[in-house]
Amino acid sequence: MASKKGKSKRHHKPAEKARKPRHHTSGKKHKKHEQKKREYIKTSIKGLDDLFEHGMPKGASILVAGGAGSGKTILCLQILTNAAREGKKCLYMSFEEPEERLREHMDDFGWPVREFEKQGKFLIKRFSSFDIAKSIDALLAKERGELAIDYTPVVLPEGFTPDIVIVDSLSAISSAFVGKEDNYRSYVEQLFRYFERMDSTAFLITETEQIPTTFSRSGVEEFLADGVIVLYNIRKGNIRENAIEILKMRGAKHMKKIVAMQVLSGTGIEIFPEQEVFSKI
Ligand SMILES: Nc1ncnc2c1ncn2[C@@H]1O[C@H](COP(=O)(O)OP(=O)(O)OP(=O)(O)O)[C@@H](O)[C@H]1O
Ligand SMILES: [Mg+2]
Repeated sequence: MASKKGKSKRHHKPAEKARKPRHHTSGKKHKKHEQKKREYIKTSIKGLDDLFEHGMPKGASILVAGGAGSGKTILCLQILTNAAREGKKCLYMSFEEPEERLREHMDDFGWPVREFEKQGKFLIKRFSSFDIAKSIDALLAKERGELAIDYTPVVLPEGFTPDIVIVDSLSAISSAFVGKEDNYRSYVEQLFRYFERMDSTAFLITETEQIPTTFSRSGVEEFLADGVIVLYNIRKGNIRENAIEILKMRGAKHMKKIVAMQVLSGTGIEIFPEQEVFSKI
């Protein structure tokens, strides 16, 4: 069995050249954004919104890529907390950590997750990527290599349509599909389409090298994603500094710099747009 996150993944051979997805729909989505007045979301994370002219486009699918411990989970939990505070419906799909561990992370920062859950606007759900891989296998065997257009990749409680979704992480999902990369691509395409149908803004975590050169395992994710946010954990002598970069964001003007980020005990992430960080990439 593939080891939990990390190790085996990071030493994987370089991602093979990405194939264009069969059901690539983000072009359509793009048009939809252009026709109606574009709406943006704000994260209310100190400094993060300042990296954008207006914000991130509502309904976008955004990769959050970074090495181990670079802050991917905390950043996403904080985005979700601030959205819940605005009354938005939030879903955290965990393929790595158990639900209770995620609640405890949130407790550490004083984010009232249990209260949000009671109010019915916050759902943390753990999934097994191995179960998903097995069920996709069975489905594809029946459906001659293509998942049906209306395939539902995640079963949610009835009536729960999230405004914001976090997937933690695509890397954990992909590790269950080793040797079946086509099945993985097929599943990921359906996942993106599903969020698009629900009009949810999605943040999808991918684990990379500490200084990444590619931002996802198969490359298909980068085709499908509207945005890529990169988190860095850069070594400077004997310390490491956190940094963040908006690598791309379709339909939004943004700063193109790597800037400092900090995880502060008790309060969470803060970003310093004026503080540029340089690394020997
Ligand atoms: N309660 C806390 N207070 C202050 N700093 C913290 C706290 N919890 C975690 N951190 C710091 O934040 C870093 C980022 O943690 P996080 O779990 O978000 O990383 P990640 O990118 O999701 O890692 P992984 O690849 O292991 O999933 C940790 O490595 C730690 O240095
Ligand atoms: Mg994490």
